[in-house]
Amino acid sequence: MKHTPETVVLVNCGCNEIQTIARGVRAEHIYSMVMPYTVSVERVLEENPQAVIFCADEPAADRIARFDSVNVPKLISCDAAEIVQFCKEKANCTGSWRMEKFIDEAVEDIRKQVGSETVVLGLSGGVDSSVVAALIHRAIGDQLTCVFVNHGLLRKNEPEMVQEVFQRNFKMNLVYVDASERFLTKLEGVDEPEKKRKIIGKEFIDVFAETAKKINAPFLGQGTIYPDILESIPLDGNPASVIKSHHNVGGLPEDLHFKLVEPVERLFKNEVREVGRLLGLPSEMLDRHPFPGPSLGVRHVGAIKRDTLAMLREADAIVTEELLRSGWYAKTWQTFAIFVPVKTVGMKDGKRTYDHVVAIRSINSVDAVTAEVVQLPWELLFKMADRIVREVDGVNRVVYDITQKPPGTIEWE
Ligand code: XMP
Repeated sequence: MKHTPETVVLVNCGCNEIQTIARGVRAEHIYSMVMPYTVSVERVLEENPQAVIFCADEPAADRIARFDSVNVPKLISCDAAEIVQFCKEKANCTGSWRMEKFIDEAVEDIRKQVGSETVVLGLSGGVDSSVVAALIHRAIGDQLTCVFVNHGLLRKNEPEMVQEVFQRNFKMNLVYVDASERFLTKLEGVDEPEKKRKIIGKEFIDVFAETAKKINAPFLGQGTIYPDILESIPLDGNPASVIKSHHNVGGLPEDLHFKLVEPVERLFKNEVREVGRLLGLPSEMLDRHPFPGPSLGVRHVGAIKRDTLAMLREADAIVTEELLRSGWYAKTWQTFAIFVPVKTVGMKDGKRTYDHVVAIRSINSVDAVTAEVVQLPWELLFKMADRIVREVDGVNRVVYDITQKPPGTIEWE
């Protein structure tokens, strides 16, 4: 990334839209970096910027006076359109930043960093870790070993898809750990949401750490992305933290002593997806809805049992299948099924049933902080409900969650 010719530094002087602005500049193929106003002048100069933009409507004079000695075009603005235009017209940026080039440079950087040593990476099947795996693999091939932990709470066909893509297509070293029984046993009888999350998180770290110890690699590949870093930099915090205050290793035992390889730490999510596409990852993997770390564990209300978890997995697969078929998948942020541990009376094939409830939730959001309920067409909802009650044994009723966030959260637990 240091080779990038045209860098625009955005000095955040208290602008709420800073990430949107940074993404907007990048959309013009101009590489932008965000730094808090407390950053040192030397740090800004290190990037050899083509322009410096102070993002605020009216920044306090002392927040910008220090930068007088930086001899490049400067602007005070919080207006995305004005900034897009300024970079091109006043700062003469040509817009030469391309993902193809990013990949070449990242590959070179990874090779330099890792040398002849080895890297271990925890693959979740999500976008970030998948793209990082493909990128590191492009750089160092068999020196990378990926670990995929099946905690028993994955969606239908998820373990198969991850193995298909990485083991069979990319021919990566992939250690597949089926720890389902271990997780499900630990979760038996636990119905409190926070306890469930803690158990899943702790077991995950334990299983990954046990496996990583055996692999004994000095480097850990991580799917840290730019928003993770930006959100961890305090606006008026210690300038030293500007470079790198963030890391995702949280929770891994200290004796593992990993050195980190984080090749997409300066990319936004849409850029990570583009890198993934260029590296040949399938859209099925790159364009998936966000999925919570604790997986189906937080979509199965109450204590998880193997048979009711299987009901949820089937119902969720039906919801996704119908959503894709109808063209609504790409129009929603998240749409999924929830298992509700309530039994109600119904009828099937002329006989009385006394079975469980599945809820469907569909929301749109920009940042997951607030969310609006999506008004899915009734025909689509009827189709989902009809298939769920016919095809999923143990479920005889489907309801639609029409709660906005707030007051509801997106997930039920
Ligand atoms: P809530 O339920 O808090 O969810 O409205 C907001 C967004 O975060 C996702 N989510 C999680 N993601 N680990 C994650 O990686 C978690 O524990 C977790 N809990 C919720 C959720 O799917 C939604 O997109």
